[in-house]
Amino acid sequence: MIRPIVKFGDPVLARKAEPVAEVTGEIRQLVDDMIETMYAAPGVGLAAPQIGVPLRICVIDISGGRRGGQVITLINPEFVERTGMQLEEEGCLSVPGYNATVARPERAVVRGLDREGQPVTIEGTGLLARALQHELDHLDGTLFLNRLRGLPRDLIIRKIRKQQRSGAW
Ligand code: NI
Repeated sequence: MIRPIVKFGDPVLARKAEPVAEVTGEIRQLVDDMIETMYAAPGVGLAAPQIGVPLRICVIDISGGRRGGQVITLINPEFVERTGMQLEEEGCLSVPGYNATVARPERAVVRGLDREGQPVTIEGTGLLARALQHELDHLDGTLFLNRLRGLPRDLIIRKIRKQQRSGAW
């Protein structure tokens, strides 16, 4: 089932999500809904808080669903390693219409549980490393806007506030 994606301004996006106690059928259904919602958007990653669920779950497919079986599900993920630095444009399904250049480590290793509740370690460089960090940030209540400094950040937030006031957000 495709779920509505919440946008910047919703408090669920600003709070720290709770760990998943047990990977049940209900959690697997939530994961399947997240994957369906991500592909429909379309996007390359989605975190549970983005559909209003404050749990530590994210899904990533940097192929955007073009290659079958590429989807990564991470439950209770945590960083094992982060190295290097990359500067690339980034956007977010919860901040539609805005992109900005964000500094991120070039390589990331993340450990968590998969859809079946089995331990999994994912290593990514480039876009995958960026997606891993973007989605894990969501689980701690951080948006890419929070990673921007000064003027670029203020400019985007000012434009969003204007859209919110006119009901266009
Ligand atoms: Ni996002």
